[in-house]
Amino acid sequence: MRVGILTSGGDAPGMNAAIRSCVRSLIHFGHQPIGIKRGFQGLVDQDFMEMNLRSVANIIHRGGTILKTSRFADFKLKKTRDQAFKNIKEQKIDRLIVIGGNGSYKGAKALFEEFDFISCGIPGTIDNDVEGTEETIGFDTALNTAIEAIDRIRDTANSHERLFIIEVMGRDNPDLPLAISVACGAEFPLIYKSEADIDKAHKKIKEGLKKGKKASIIIVAENDHNVIEKLQKSLKNEELDYRTSVLGHMQRGGAPSAKDRILASQMGYMAAENISSINKFSVVSKVRNEIEIIPFDKVVKSDGSKNKYYMKLNDVLSK
Ligand code: F6P
Repeated sequence: MRVGILTSGGDAPGMNAAIRSCVRSLIHFGHQPIGIKRGFQGLVDQDFMEMNLRSVANIIHRGGTILKTSRFADFKLKKTRDQAFKNIKEQKIDRLIVIGGNGSYKGAKALFEEFDFISCGIPGTIDNDVEGTEETIGFDTALNTAIEAIDRIRDTANSHERLFIIEVMGRDNPDLPLAISVACGAEFPLIYKSEADIDKAHKKIKEGLKKGKKASIIIVAENDHNVIEKLQKSLKNEELDYRTSVLGHMQRGGAPSAKDRILASQMGYMAAENISSINKFSVVSKVRNEIEIIPFDKVVKSDGSKNKYYMKLNDVLSK
């Protein structure tokens, strides 16, 4: 089979390791890998390249994605997808491996529903928010990168006896902010849903102050509600010195951790091994420590219990 490979949405450390694994495993199973540049955009722009064993040499340790990526909003348009499918046919591509998050899976799902064209998804995003898998490629590295940065901030927070409000990535899902908060021993993870959350953060800071705790860390999940400003306003009458730091895109770069390299290698192999036998859009997942391939319509949504548990854990341990 001729199998297209693309990376789409926000890049994640370990995507290169996944591309490497897909290419080499596909060749092992007798298929021809075709790299597609800039995600779904490359399908429309016809940015294709045949890949061989050497095309993926020396990339397992590199962050980013050699195939480039994009958030290609036009793929929501039927006429854009028609063009993409026309190009798929012209290039005689039989199957597609899509490495990305939920948005990327939506694109692959649309190709299946509209044209019966079969793809296999591999979860790659730092957010760890892909349904059906307990781990996504890039999450572990981003978590470690954030923790390393916050540990440094903690040194200066302690010396100056300051509160630090630190904004971390994870727009739509609290997994990353919650894990960061637990792992760096933060005072409170502010996963903003309503004004009540600002009050809770404020209360936690006040309790700390009463106990003489002046240096602490509040993790804020990025979002569009200007949470940091609201929290700053609520703190204006407190006797404390505070600073704000936004970690931003540094969380998405850097060499992938060993865990992400291994996860990516396993998932790429699983996709390649099954690519010719799947008969509908399917996704590679890690469930109870096993790498599996599941038809997308059988994917079970998470019940949010892990997030509740992390909130509680953080609350009990940050004293
Ligand atoms: O890829 C996921 C992510 O890093 C989110 O955590 C973040 O909200 C978003 O992407 C940022 O996207 P962009 O790089 O397009 O601004």
